[in-house]
Amino acid sequence: MGLRIRAATLDDAGAICAIYNQGIEDRIATLETALRTPDERRAWLAQREARHPVIVAEEDGRVVGWGSLNPFMTRPGYRFVADFSIYVERERRGKGIGSQLLARLEELARELGYHKLALTALPWNAAGLALYEAFGFRTVGVYTEQGQIDGRWVDTVVMEKLL
Ligand SMILES: CC(C)(COP(=O)(O)OP(=O)(O)OC[C@H]1O[C@@H](n2cnc3c(N)ncnc32)[C@H](O)[C@@H]1OP(=O)(O)O)[C@@H](O)C(=O)NCCC(=O)NCCS
Repeated sequence: MGLRIRAATLDDAGAICAIYNQGIEDRIATLETALRTPDERRAWLAQREARHPVIVAEEDGRVVGWGSLNPFMTRPGYRFVADFSIYVERERRGKGIGSQLLARLEELARELGYHKLALTALPWNAAGLALYEAFGFRTVGVYTEQGQIDGRWVDTVVMEKLL
């Protein structure tokens, strides 16, 4: 069996939680530091609106990655821009799963009428930056000392792609 990308269901909360927590612990993906629980992710899934879908990558029946389209900013003028997340299980990274998740998120974003995808990445996230560049994202710029993680200042890279 190959890889299948599908819409997430509430039953995926446990797998999504475990994969998200790996990304948080690795300190490469996000300035988030609070680990999640399956119940918290279940509630998160339950409140998603149609314009902010969550998808999973399933390999031989097992969830090995997830992605989501997220609100960029709440003011109405920004409604054509989506932020997004992609997380692949630690042991399954570098095997094309992130690329398949991003391809599907782009497809969904077009279907949902978005005009642009935007993201913020950490400068040392080589896999993330390579993925976005491969998909034609442009670097808008770098915020210097935009946040703190584990007590030290970090820069963030802002990227965008017009759909
Ligand atoms: C970032 C992430 C989603 C990418 O998914 P992936 O399945 O590992 O990536 P893929 O195998 O699809 O590779 C995508 C591109 O990145 C490149 N790449 C993958 N791993 C890499 C690495 N460690 N260093 C440099 N480039 C890398 C691939 O060569 C490929 O580029 P190409 O198409 O030009 O050959 C995944 O590594 C991950 O979940 N990381 C932790 C969470 C995270 O950082 N999320 C993004 C937050 S901004």
